[in-house]
Amino acid sequence: MGASFATHVLFLLWFFAATFSLSFLKTMSNEVSCNEKDKQALLSLKRGLTDPFNLLSSWSSQEDCCRWDGVHCDNKTSRVTELHLAYTGIGGEISRSLLELEFLNYLDLSFNDFNRTPIPTFLGSMGNLTHIDLSDANFSGIIPHQLGNLSSLCYLYLGSNFDLYADNLYWMSGLFSIQYIDLSSVDLHKETDWLQIMSKFSSLSELYLSNCKLDSLNPSLGFVNFTSLQVLYLSGNHFNHEIPNWFSNLSSSLLKLYLDDSSLKGKIPPSIFNLEELEYLSLYPNHLIGKIPESLGQLKHLTYLDLSFNSLNGPIPVSVGNLSHMRTLSLNQNQLNGTIPKSLGLLSNLEELYIQNNFLTGTIEEGHFKKLSKLKDLSMSQPQLFFNVNSNWVPPFQLEYVSMSSIKIGPNFPSWLQSQKSLGFLDMSMSGISSKAPSWFWNWTSNVEAIDLSDNHIEGDLSNILLNSTVINLRSNHFKGRFPLLSENVKVLNIANNSYSGPISTFLCQKVIRKNKLVVLDASNNLLSGELSHCWRYWQSLIHLNLGSNSLAGRIPYSMGVLVNLQSLRLQNNSISGDIPSSFKNCSNFGLIDIGNNHLTGIIPPWIGEMTNLLVLRLRSNEFKGRIPPQICQLSSLRVLDLADNSLSSVIPNCLKNISAMALPELNIQVFPFEPLKYMYGYVSYIENLKLVPKGKELEYARNLEFVKIIDLSNNNLSGSIPVEICVLFELRFLNLSRNHLMGKIPNKIGSMKELESIDLSRNHLSGKIPPSMSNLTFLSYLDLSYNNLSGRIPSSTQLQSFDALSYVGNPQLCGDPLPKNCTIEEESLKRSPTGSAEDDSINSSFYLGMGVGFAAGFWAICGALFFNRTWRHSCFKFSDDIRD
Ligand SMILES: *[C@@H]1O[C@H](CO)[C@@H](O)[C@H](O)[C@H]1NC(C)=O
Ligand SMILES: *[C@@H]1O[C@H](CO)[C@@H](O)[C@H](O)[C@H]1NC(C)=O
Ligand SMILES: *[C@@H]1O[C@H](CO)[C@@H](O)[C@H](O)[C@H]1NC(C)=O
Ligand SMILES: *[C@@H]1O[C@H](CO)[C@@H](O)[C@H](O)[C@H]1NC(C)=O
Ligand SMILES: *[C@@H]1O[C@H](CO)[C@@H](O)[C@H](O)[C@H]1NC(C)=O
Ligand SMILES: *[C@@H]1O[C@H](CO)[C@@H](O)[C@H](O)[C@H]1NC(C)=O
Ligand SMILES: *[C@@H]1O[C@H](CO)[C@@H](O)[C@H](O)[C@H]1NC(C)=O
Ligand SMILES: *[C@@H]1O[C@H](CO)[C@@H](O)[C@H](O)[C@H]1NC(C)=O
Ligand SMILES: *[C@@H]1O[C@H](CO)[C@@H](O)[C@H](O)[C@H]1NC(C)=O
Repeated sequence: MGASFATHVLFLLWFFAATFSLSFLKTMSNEVSCNEKDKQALLSLKRGLTDPFNLLSSWSSQEDCCRWDGVHCDNKTSRVTELHLAYTGIGGEISRSLLELEFLNYLDLSFNDFNRTPIPTFLGSMGNLTHIDLSDANFSGIIPHQLGNLSSLCYLYLGSNFDLYADNLYWMSGLFSIQYIDLSSVDLHKETDWLQIMSKFSSLSELYLSNCKLDSLNPSLGFVNFTSLQVLYLSGNHFNHEIPNWFSNLSSSLLKLYLDDSSLKGKIPPSIFNLEELEYLSLYPNHLIGKIPESLGQLKHLTYLDLSFNSLNGPIPVSVGNLSHMRTLSLNQNQLNGTIPKSLGLLSNLEELYIQNNFLTGTIEEGHFKKLSKLKDLSMSQPQLFFNVNSNWVPPFQLEYVSMSSIKIGPNFPSWLQSQKSLGFLDMSMSGISSKAPSWFWNWTSNVEAIDLSDNHIEGDLSNILLNSTVINLRSNHFKGRFPLLSENVKVLNIANNSYSGPISTFLCQKVIRKNKLVVLDASNNLLSGELSHCWRYWQSLIHLNLGSNSLAGRIPYSMGVLVNLQSLRLQNNSISGDIPSSFKNCSNFGLIDIGNNHLTGIIPPWIGEMTNLLVLRLRSNEFKGRIPPQICQLSSLRVLDLADNSLSSVIPNCLKNISAMALPELNIQVFPFEPLKYMYGYVSYIENLKLVPKGKELEYARNLEFVKIIDLSNNNLSGSIPVEICVLFELRFLNLSRNHLMGKIPNKIGSMKELESIDLSRNHLSGKIPPSMSNLTFLSYLDLSYNNLSGRIPSSTQLQSFDALSYVGNPQLCGDPLPKNCTIEEESLKRSPTGSAEDDSINSSFYLGMGVGFAAGFWAICGALFFNRTWRHSCFKFSDDIRD
């Protein structure tokens, strides 16, 4: 669905771009009549091409070929000189008849689809070509050396053909007139002399070599001089060394230098700032260390500097104040320390300032913004800064985006905000504001699209205030009274962890609130009481609802089943009783159900198996009875199954192996399936957090919830044996079956669940030996097998002996390290008893396929897709670190 939609949009774009540019050209061309030879050549070209959108329909023999779409003739000789066929969707074969167009100098076939065919070698014989653009046209294979014969060529654009490569670039030395070269995404890893070759072109002005698999900038070269180079793109290569010194004399005319994401290491050489004309310099993200050289101030023409996502330390150089043309300054995500220089306030052209997530300290005052009258985006979040401006300060700027999270701004409300009339995004979370908002404030926010004041100590009663922002996060403050009034514009309201009290129905049933279009409501951790109301029909746009950790009582009303859009239902930690209403059958969008820690009774309804989008089912700590319905195995996306601490009886269903999210690695890009776990709106996201007990202790999961795979059935009345089929849940990380009445053996193949980090089977009646395969569980960091009837020697492995004896106590016949009991006697007695009883582990071994690559592939699929969004990329990398912590 998604893919075909995107394709349609693309085709439409093609269509519009093509029709527009073609008709534009047509009106431009003059009254000339076509040369017959050229016409025949073009007709022959057309016969070889596919034209899915019929954009070459004007190419008919009745018409003058100089008036055909995309064809340009010389207005004196009426010979065809230019072919503009970009974005037409054409493909197929490029006929040799093109050679007949002997006056052709301009050939643009970019943004089409030539089905991975090679670039035709005969193009090298079209000696009058000055402009070739074959970018993004699905050509593949080697770039023909014949192109090197085109001595008049000025433009050579071959970028974004993802299967194109060059064995070397020496053939290019014949391109005497070349000015623009784009070989982005062409595989050039075999060419180590690219730098020497390219620097010989005396008229080369722009060079694009992004993502070319280049692995060296030849730092050993003392001197590289591109005579006329103005633009150099080398992003996305993996140089893995320092920035060479030769950059300083690269070209006295260089305007733009992009070395993004190129694995550059070491310090920034001050010599790079000798490139006096430089306007754009981008070095993010790399592995650069050390200080930002004070000589930065030499780059008088700089308008754009991005050094973010490196490991730079030391202060922001004072000389930054000399960069009077600067419009965008990004130094975020480094380790910069010291105070922010006042000279920053001199950058009268600055529009975007990003210095968040460093270790900057000290006080920010009016002076820092003295001349910043054009500032629009200000992002400076970090914990050790104080924002100290006069209460009557009128800033020179009109901001659109402010992110000042964790800067100390309070205790007073920042009154300068009142002067800001264009603000769309305001984040002043964790900023120590502890007063009441001034009377103008809430009215003022009505044009601010997203506002985050969470984790302050703001007091107040918003009962009569109409809020209009799309996203409102007031979590963890001291708000009380009734809910605020919400315009239809409000989508996200987070008032968790405040002091709202009183019956929930007075909140949900207020007449004035009935027209809300709320998508996320989080009112957890307040003092709300009473029964869940019957007013749910006014809340049908909800997708995420969290009323957890209040004092709600009574039953879940049948009427709640009208919330058919709901993906996440959280009622945990209240005193709700009764059973799960059958009206929830309609709620097929449920992806997360957390109704744990209540007094719910009755059975787990079998129809829960129809909620096929369910990722998380947490019914923990209630009074559910009866068996675990086998229908639960139909929930193939389920990754959190927490039924612990209930009164469930009978056996563990042996179909759990059907829960494929726990059995199979995720190879596909799984972005949408996680919707129930988060809601994204522009720069902000609302992320579900969940309390689980993965390793004997309660932990809260939020961002990394999507990587959790847990089965917790502990503390019930389950009997029978552990189904051997469970062992194909190769992706399971946490398994807790403790405190039941389970009997029989631990399945022999438990060791094939390679991802297991935690196993708790304690306090059952399990018998037999500990399966030797358990020594294969290399991630195992929590194990409790205590109080069973296990016997024999504890298998030896790095892991199994690393746990202390408490993991094994209460099994009188168990012996060996780490238990104090010696094994000799036990083993003697076991030898005499019959061993090797019929193998009970009959597992469908086809599940073994593809094991092991799962985590890595799935993770990179997600993070790869999000790569272009900077904040996302960061959080992605960040939580990959958290995962195995
Ligand atoms: C022919 O085209 C050239 C540029 O391509 C233009 O300068 C000239 O005015 C045109 N001549 C006529 C007669 O349109
Ligand atoms: C290039 O154009 C000239 C006329 O300007 C023509 O004589 C010559 O044959 C053309 N060369 C090629 C290789 O087509
Ligand atoms: C490129 O061509 C190949 C082979 O026909 C096709 O499978 C692929 O989808 C094309 N790629 C794009 C981006 O059009
Ligand atoms: C690079 O070479 C050109 C001419 O070859 C020369 O004018 C220029 O000064 C040189 N640049 C440097 C930095 O040496
Ligand atoms: C900044 O950090 C460096 C080491 O990372 C340290 O030597 C220096 O003293 C720090 N400067 C300030 C002002 O904290
Ligand atoms: C809020 O703004 C509206 C117009 O948008 C205005 O009529 C009203 O007086 C303002 N209220 C306060 C308290 O400023
Ligand atoms: C409410 O927000 C919408 C959308 O941002 C905006 O168009 C509208 O003017 C706002 N209403 C008020 C009263 O500010
Ligand atoms: C441990 O794993 C290896 C490779 O997966 C396997 O060959 C071996 O039999 C396993 N050991 C046990 C005791 O199951
Ligand atoms: C356990 O057995 C080892 C030999 O395997 C022996 O050296 C040791 O003394 C025994 N310890 C006890 C407590 O019986």
